[in-house]
Amino acid sequence: MRAAVLGTGSSLPERVLTNTELERMVETSDEWIRTRTGIRTRRIAGPDEQNYQLATRAAQHALTAAGIAAQDLGLIIVATISPHMLMPSCACFVQTELGANNAFAFDLNAACSGFLYALDVARKYIAADPKMKVLVIGSETLSARVDWEDRNTCILFGDGAGACVLGSAEERGILDSCLLSDGSLWNLLYMDSPASKNPDLLDPESKGCVIQMSGRDVFKYAVRAMEDVVRQLLERQQLSISDISLIIPHQANIRILDKLADRLGAQANQVFCNVDKYGNTSAASIPIALDEAVRQGRLQRGDKLLLCAFGGGFTWGSMLLKW
Ligand SMILES: CC(C)(COP(=O)(O)OP(=O)(O)OC[C@H]1O[C@@H](n2cnc3c(N)ncnc32)[C@H](O)[C@@H]1OP(=O)(O)O)[C@@H](O)C(=O)NCCC(=O)NCCS
Repeated sequence: MRAAVLGTGSSLPERVLTNTELERMVETSDEWIRTRTGIRTRRIAGPDEQNYQLATRAAQHALTAAGIAAQDLGLIIVATISPHMLMPSCACFVQTELGANNAFAFDLNAACSGFLYALDVARKYIAADPKMKVLVIGSETLSARVDWEDRNTCILFGDGAGACVLGSAEERGILDSCLLSDGSLWNLLYMDSPASKNPDLLDPESKGCVIQMSGRDVFKYAVRAMEDVVRQLLERQQLSISDISLIIPHQANIRILDKLADRLGAQANQVFCNVDKYGNTSAASIPIALDEAVRQGRLQRGDKLLLCAFGGGFTWGSMLLKW
């Protein structure tokens, strides 16, 4: 028995923000953004598109695809770094919106690696109780967490949600995973908490609850870390990159994806990419891409699917699935 994906879904805000519009907001250009990041547009949440609402819509699509009722869920995990409230968790809002009365629910923060971490947690619950159905969601409204005057970051991020329903299966599912963290490098990519109400804990240096990043450093670490963690997994499974049907990396930047593919010796058609449309949606990027890949018919039963991610923490990881 393995934990397998039974259905996928996604939900994107309606509003499309183009590079040309960003030219009017900060000193940048469509050409700069396209050549440095590969991003053309990103989605921005509007009214009725709070994080939990996007998450709930993605979940509804995934439940329909899986043919599972919300009441049959035992656990809901939302990977996010941009919940609309710190408490209750986004997952609790999703639980009540879905009417998933038999599930317990919590959020998980591993930044852009959050969805992989959450899948791995789900896998362990299903191993302990093979009858359990688990809903794993990656959902972000990062538009609320970027400084719209900082051209280094505001061009990169977008909003959206993706979801998977997992249950046990005989012939397919998650084969292996490798997750890593290194907190010593936290200051290369981080987001402060909302200002403390305890004057003794107030940080006078804080720029507030927005993403801050040393882009060049993050770029280097991201490529190296994802390459290493993919190689580790392939070696353990005695596979080579040509055995993989599809690689879905965290959608951070087209140059990171190209470099990663190049270093791994992967062909362009092995690597799924939609960063041009949605930008970096952090924990939501892999499940949104997975849902698109499924709907485009890019995955057939028996295919080997490789997921890999990198994010703030630093956190990073890889996961191998038999589809
Ligand atoms: C952010 C990133 C696109 C910047 O690209 P880069 O080629 O490294 O560019 P640099 O940071 O070296 O900046 C080059 C110049 O462009 C400028 N620049 C930065 N953002 C700009 C923008 N939006 N428009 C125009 N110019 C910009 C910089 O100020 C710098 O100018 P200077 O040389 O006068 O100082 C790139 O580093 C990156 O993608 N990093 C990874 C980010 C990421 O994925 N984070 C999330 C990981 S989960």
